[in-house]
Amino acid sequence: MRLDRRALLAGALAGAGAAALGARARTHGGGALPGRPARGATGQVVERRLVAAERDAAVLGPGRPTTRVWTYADAGEPGFPLIRARVGDRLDVTLENRLPEHTALHWHGVRVPNGQDGVPFLTQAPVQPGESFRYSFELPDPGTFFVHPHCNESGQSGRGLAAVLVVDGDEPPDLRPDLDLVLAVKDWRLAPDGAFLPLDTKEGAGKAGTFGTVRGVNGRAGPAASLVPTGGDLRLRLLNLDPTRVLELGIEEGDAIVLAVDGQAVRPFPLDSWRLGPAMRLDLLVRAPSRAGDALRVVDYGAAEPWTVATLTAEGPDVGRGPFEAKTLYAARVPRPEVATAERLSFAFGSGSGSSTPSAATGGLPPDDPLARALLDSLCTRDTSLWAINETSWPTGPNAALPPPLATLEAGRSYLFELVNTTAHAHPIHLHGHSFEVLSSTRQPGLPRHLADTVLLLPRDRVEIAFVAAPGDWMLHCHVLEHLEYGMMGYLRVA
Ligand code: C2O
Ligand code: CU
Repeated sequence: MRLDRRALLAGALAGAGAAALGARARTHGGGALPGRPARGATGQVVERRLVAAERDAAVLGPGRPTTRVWTYADAGEPGFPLIRARVGDRLDVTLENRLPEHTALHWHGVRVPNGQDGVPFLTQAPVQPGESFRYSFELPDPGTFFVHPHCNESGQSGRGLAAVLVVDGDEPPDLRPDLDLVLAVKDWRLAPDGAFLPLDTKEGAGKAGTFGTVRGVNGRAGPAASLVPTGGDLRLRLLNLDPTRVLELGIEEGDAIVLAVDGQAVRPFPLDSWRLGPAMRLDLLVRAPSRAGDALRVVDYGAAEPWTVATLTAEGPDVGRGPFEAKTLYAARVPRPEVATAERLSFAFGSGSGSSTPSAATGGLPPDDPLARALLDSLCTRDTSLWAINETSWPTGPNAALPPPLATLEAGRSYLFELVNTTAHAHPIHLHGHSFEVLSSTRQPGLPRHLADTVLLLPRDRVEIAFVAAPGDWMLHCHVLEHLEYGMMGYLRVA
């Protein structure tokens, strides 16, 4: 059923003279997209204050016990606050830390100057309890991004610390959606009384990660529900903010085209379904039902049972958009690598040695205990090396010294990385500070060539990416939060 309807949509798009491609067909990013009018800094400054603090939130819903979450959300704000700016604006964000432990802000997917990247011990000192830190940089790219801490990430993000960053400026005049909707998927690990269950478990950490007990969207348990203009064009910004879960997203009772991956425009193609590992994003253009009261659904087919992420119900008079046509965003303005002459490097994502820090270091305290954390978090890792990159685990234990970089690159040069998954688990691999081109995947042969900041390696997958190196020390790690905390993390030095 689903496939038939999508085949029809592909036909319709071809008839419209657009770049219509089956979701499994290969396409090439760039080239055909309209260019974004060159405009540098806007001179506008978007100021925000994000207070990281423990707060009460009705995650489980009205009438249910509340949860002591850690958020940036002031009263009345959604659980994951939305920061919105235009490309070329300066973002001026002050982080105030009212948590009982240190934190920082990482701008996931944003090509920031290295000093703004928010990685404790690598690009800045940790922001201690009671301290503040001001981030200030110009936004180089439009798109859908997010913000998260980068130490005790399973604990801090797991308790709710995340914000969504939408940078406007990628829509040509003929693509003005009637509604722009953020759907940030994140599960919660809660007991029925609303209290957090352990967010980091040895069983989970050594496998696919520790899953939540309650599925959720936009900071609340359960699917999202929205009213949308009848017959209107909807821009859906889907984010996977879960520490662990790989989503496979599709649309039921409606048609969708893919506009962007990880915030960067692609040549549009009809959506069949798309895998979204932790930290990955997908921007869709979806046509709302043509009859008021009808609904379409965003569905995750990756779960054991398909799970409804959002129900979008049409209301009001028909917007009268006419046939649903492929529309394109402005082309991304990202330095393009010279693939033919790029230097090749290979990175194997595999298991670690399993070696532990002497238990005396934590005095036998459970890993979630604040004192054990203070002892062990000298480099934001746990006490055991379960995972590794090129057989090297990020150092664990107290007083660990910053390890040497995984590789030293030359700024401005093109690199082709071969990312090899030697394990039986999926790993969403993220490189800070860059948008790389995903060239190929042995396990995902239909994957269109596209820009991304995080690429999913399926079990035993071999993926090729290419990019132009930007100066700085940039983390390269798996975005299953326990995997990075148990060793699957390193950095590149670009000089
Ligand atoms: Cu969103 Cu180093 O990560
Ligand atoms: Cu992983």
